[in-house]
This record gives sequence, structure tokens and C-alpha cells, in this order.
Amino acid sequence: EKGGYDHYMLKEIHEQPTALRQAIAGRINGIEEGVDLAELSLSEEFLTTIDEIQFVACGTSYHACLYAKQLIEEFADVRATVEFASEYSIGSGRDPERTLVVGVSQSGETADTLRALRMAHRVGIRTLGVTNTVGSTMARECDDALYIRAGPEIGVAATKTFASQIIVLAMFALTVAETRGELDVAAGRELRRNLQDLPGAVQSVLNQNDEIKEIAEAYADGEAFFFIGRRLGGPVSLEGALKLKEISYDHAEGFPAGELKHGPLALVTEETPVLAILTDGTRPEETRNNVKEVQARGAPVIAIAADGYQGDHDVEFEVPDLGLLEPLVANVYLQLFAYHVANSKGRAIDKPRNLAKSVTVE
Ligand code: F6R
Repeated sequence: EKGGYDHYMLKEIHEQPTALRQAIAGRINGIEEGVDLAELSLSEEFLTTIDEIQFVACGTSYHACLYAKQLIEEFADVRATVEFASEYSIGSGRDPERTLVVGVSQSGETADTLRALRMAHRVGIRTLGVTNTVGSTMARECDDALYIRAGPEIGVAATKTFASQIIVLAMFALTVAETRGELDVAAGRELRRNLQDLPGAVQSVLNQNDEIKEIAEAYADGEAFFFIGRRLGGPVSLEGALKLKEISYDHAEGFPAGELKHGPLALVTEETPVLAILTDGTRPEETRNNVKEVQARGAPVIAIAADGYQGDHDVEFEVPDLGLLEPLVANVYLQLFAYHVANSKGRAIDKPRNLAKSVTVE
């Protein structure tokens, strides 16, 4: 049932190319053609008049929303906000008619996320649920549902669904941008091409599993692990740290690289490996300064770097040229890093202590 893998998590990490292909099948039909999200019933008029998209989610799905927010603002030129579902409030100064709330949930059953969507619904805001689970409470209750088609995810740690959520939200960003007449032709073409090339790029990372395992084992005894990246690298840093702490029980923190010097730097020593994301979409030139700051304190640096951003790092993993999806490819290295650190410690990877796959209490 685990298809020859030791854990569901490892199997699901390896299923990403397939999951991603399923997510774009029939939705992107060529680089020159617009995205087709046939199941969306949001009218052209509604999409053109909204002035805010509010994302609500928890955990890994929240990180996917942080990525999506930046894509929406970049492509569709409409304000996007992200809130922890458990902290959601309608807020002030919003016109319900011009707001769309997007809930993102793998399971479609997370109590906090359902609660936020119900609050929005109650005041007349339209809701869209982005989920992996057909027939879930989220899919049934929202005005619209968009499926990520990743297939069942059994490991408690979300892996393939993170990637699938982001690309479905990227296609949603393209749809909103196109409908509003704001899509730059060349930028749209490039994102569609990157989406089509993503499964192959992810596969190229998976093919390096043995090398990643070796590095993970070499650094597994770190006292703590820090993950840094800017812009689109920010959510990936958070996600890299979440994955590692969940399954290895090690202290891991992710943050936007610029925040390092405002506090966390006090924790950096020779015993705290720093994983840095240096790709397109993450302002790598500036992040390099932060890398130098941690190197000055003796911290080993594992760089996940696109061509041109390599440098003086203890370890370097290479990210192929993929524009704004490069941070998503970088994330696959972080997933495998977390897995192998945890596995070298004999952790219960598919069922970490204290955690459940679907959190149905607030
Ligand atoms: C992390 C993880 C959790 C979930 C969160 C939301 O690996 O699995 O953080 O992402 O509980 O779950 P869904 O997406 O089902 O709402």
C-alpha cells in the first residue's frame, strides 16, 4: 500500500509530479491558451468588481495561501490578504459585495477554516473552497469549490497537497487577472509554461533523494534549524520549518530573511544549520546578505539556489529555471530534508506525536 516506500510521507512526496499533472489536466491546454477552471461559477462581473480576496486557512494550507497572495497581487493587481482561520474576523471597512473569501483546506473538514467561511457567509460574502476532498463539508458549504486533485494524502504531514494547492491557486490568479483584463500577455505565458514544466522540475529534485538523505543525516544533530527566504521564499521557509518540527521534533523556525537581524540572529551558532532559499521570486541578492550574517556566526548554510545564486555555502542544492515557481521546487528539497532527518532519528513519521491529520475541533 505504501508502494515500496517506508512511509506514506515519502510516497506522497514522490507522487508530486503525478499530482501536479492531475491538477493542471484540462485546465491548462497550451501556453498560448487561457486557463480553464470550468467548475468555477464566479461571474465575470463579480470577479471584475471585487476589491479584496481574503484567504483563510491553517498550517500548511496557510503557507500555500501566503504564496498565492503574492501571485494574486502580482498578476491580478487586486488586494489579497491571508489570515489564520482561527483568527479570522470580518474586519471593518469591507464591502461584502466586493469581497471574496477563499478557504483552503486539504481535508475540507478543518473546524477553524469552516468556522471562518461560515462567518463570511453569514454577512453575505461569497465563499470559495479550495480542497482535495470531494464531498467534504467545505466543498458542500461554499458557494464554489475548486479541487486540487492530489489524490488521497495519508501521512499526517501535508506534502503533495501543498504543491497542488499552490498551483491551483496560481491558475486561479491567472483566471482573475485575465477576467479583469489585467493579465500581462508575456507574464501569463511564462507562468503557464512554468506550470507545465513544474512536474519535471520536481522530478529532478526527487531524483536526488540519495544526496539529500546524505546531507540530512550529516546535519541531523543540529541544535535548531532555521529557514530563511524573502518574498515567495517566506512561505516556503515557514513550510520547511513546520515540516521539520512536526516529524523530527527538532526546534525549527522559518522567517522572512530580513527579520533575522531583528531577533532570531541571537539564536544562531555553529550548531544551528540555516537553510536559505535563493531563487527567482525571493530577492536572492538581499538574502545573500543574511546568509553572510549567519556565516559570520559560524552557522553552516545549506543553500537551495537557482543558477546564478550559488556561492560560498557548505551545501548547495540546485533549482532549475522556473520563474516564480522556483520556491515551490525548492520546497521539495526541504520536504526530503525533513523526512530524512526524522527518519534517521527513528521518528513516527506518518503519525507524529500529538498530531492528527484532520483537526475537527476549534
Ligand atoms: C502540516 C499539516 C497541518 C495542516 C492543517 C490544515 O503538515 O498537515 O498543518 O496543514 O491542519 O489542514 P487542512 O489543509 O486539512 O485544513
